[in-house]
Amino acid sequence: MLGAQMQFELSRLVDAAWAVAAYAAQGRDDLSPQQRAAVERALTLSGLPVGSHDPEFAAALTSQLAQAAAFAEGPTKGWGDMPDEVLLAQGRGSRQVADWIVDEAAPVLGLTGVAERSGAVFLDVGVGTGQLAVRIAERWPRARVVGVDRMERVLGLARTVVDGAGCADRVELRHGDVTDLADDAVYDLAWLPLSFMSPDAIPKALEAVRRVLRPGGWVIATTFAADSELPIVNAMSDLVTAVNGGSSLTQEDLLVEIRAAGYGETVALPSTPLTGALTAARG
Ligand SMILES: C[S@@+](CC[C@H](N)C(=O)[O-])C[C@H]1O[C@@H](n2cnc3c(N)ncnc32)[C@H](O)[C@@H]1O
Repeated sequence: MLGAQMQFELSRLVDAAWAVAAYAAQGRDDLSPQQRAAVERALTLSGLPVGSHDPEFAAALTSQLAQAAAFAEGPTKGWGDMPDEVLLAQGRGSRQVADWIVDEAAPVLGLTGVAERSGAVFLDVGVGTGQLAVRIAERWPRARVVGVDRMERVLGLARTVVDGAGCADRVELRHGDVTDLADDAVYDLAWLPLSFMSPDAIPKALEAVRRVLRPGGWVIATTFAADSELPIVNAMSDLVTAVNGGSSLTQEDLLVEIRAAGYGETVALPSTPLTGALTAARG
């Protein structure tokens, strides 16, 4: 049997998971008065905000809790094995990623004017449930969005999300690998979440995207960078990416890959926990 001290240590960590659950549950309207009071006390004593609920971030947190529990149970459960509701919840967090691209990344890259023009085209590699793609289409109402994903099942979810948002005329969904892209050089901006790709797929993915960018177009590559000053943060990032069959690269390694793929200028962009570390490169 595990020693009592270690059992206490692990239980404290489970308390942290419950604090996250309490944050996410704040938005529920079916909590009993006793549950709500307990949630608020748990949050207050955890130093977390009470009453300033962020539903999209909360959905992504809930999805992370479900993904961790599924991994604990086994057999190996990565992104592709998750139930629809877990994928959709994580995808809701992607709406905030799209807002970040529009509000924080595009201005740094001088792309705001371009993206607001009719004829602008955005590429979403790994479109998943389509929520990032839809939000981009909502924020840039004259732009067209192409989303590609190699997982057929998620594209079914994405189709429902796109149709539900009423933007099927501007969001095209394609089944396939990023390396299948064969468009002429059309994209003004491409989103490339490398954290979900295996290390050997990264060079080919970067090259494939560079080929389809219009001259002067940008890729934003995202990694759950493994270069925090805190080793425990890097270890957790490695664990999550290993579960999903992805890669965690240091910013330095990513820059080496970007240069080898033939890109020009690079820019380190501001980021959030949902976006991962963001590096832009000009095609
Ligand atoms: C976290 S999901 C993206 C979530 C998405 N932003 C949303 O709104 O739901 C990452 C996606 O990348 C896809 N993917 C991974 N490697 C790929 C590749 N080489 N080509 C195309 N899609 C890929 C996966 O199938 C997965 O659906």
